[in-house]
Amino acid sequence: MLGNPVMTASGTFGYGTEEDHGFDIQALGAIVCKGTTLKSRDGNPQPRLVETAGGILNSIGLENIGVDALIKEKAPVWSGWKVPVIVNIAGETVDEYTRLAEKLEGVAGISGIEVNISCPNLAAGGAEFGTDPDSAAEVTSAVRKATSMPVLVKLTPNTGNITGVAQAVAGAGADAISLINTIKGMALDIAGRRPVLGNVSGGLSGPAIKPVALYMVYEVAKAVDVPVIGCGGITTAGDAIEFIMAGASAVQVGTVGFSNPRAPLDILEGIQQFMKEEGIDNLTSLVGTARSA
Ligand SMILES: Cc1cc2nc3c(=O)[nH]c(=O)nc-3n(C[C@H](O)[C@H](O)[C@H](O)COP(=O)(O)O)c2cc1C
Repeated sequence: MLGNPVMTASGTFGYGTEEDHGFDIQALGAIVCKGTTLKSRDGNPQPRLVETAGGILNSIGLENIGVDALIKEKAPVWSGWKVPVIVNIAGETVDEYTRLAEKLEGVAGISGIEVNISCPNLAAGGAEFGTDPDSAAEVTSAVRKATSMPVLVKLTPNTGNITGVAQAVAGAGADAISLINTIKGMALDIAGRRPVLGNVSGGLSGPAIKPVALYMVYEVAKAVDVPVIGCGGITTAGDAIEFIMAGASAVQVGTVGFSNPRAPLDILEGIQQFMKEEGIDNLTSLVGTARSA
């Protein structure tokens, strides 16, 4: 499905349609659009973004136009694109994920589904689907049954058992696993003596999380047979190559795009340059090499 291994990370590149990105986005491996829910959402109270050392905390709260508007307004634009678009979906029940996948089935311009399982499971008292292997498997298998498209499942790092969750979703029919989503955190305003974010907590992303993400990719890639897509703090081509050597077959680029919009293409070109210098024809030969070192 991918022409090359560099994609945008969900929520950091909108729908890809908003603006001139300053580079040819058709050159990317894939665009993953922002998290999409059944109904449109306004998101969390402001402020929703705060800079931290080496990263940002966000509590956007899945603000999005809803799946029906996405199908009507965005998919027709995507259907004229060369770059595949993957729709990231989010729900609060297994049924919501199923209905999202059913609605997206057969829509021109959509090439795959990424299932964000970092969402509260209302039927299980609000614990995130992705913190528990059984819940993660249940939602994966429901989406798998509802679509003929490739299904990526995106793991949350906010669990003590990411390998168990990865094995459960692979066993339930995921075609690939992306990781990681943001790490839960907070920032305080000491003058006001209160949390900075309107939602109290948020998700940490950016270079600060790279070592955590890299290790999780390394461990998960050893434990599953499906392709792994690495994400978390990737800022340079060297970072991306680290993830590939740890076992990722592709990478997603997120937060760095806010300070360098051309970063996804810079990273792709840097990987190609590295391969040329090292005489590597096929990226597959680099995947997981750090494991056998
Ligand atoms: C502002 C913002 C919004 C995000 N929205 C989503 C989302 O809707 N769905 C999702 O699965 N991940 C979302 N993420 C997580 C990113 O896709 C990515 O997993 C995470 O930021 C780590 O990668 P990075 O350090 O390169 O940004 C969001 C991240 C940020 C910073």
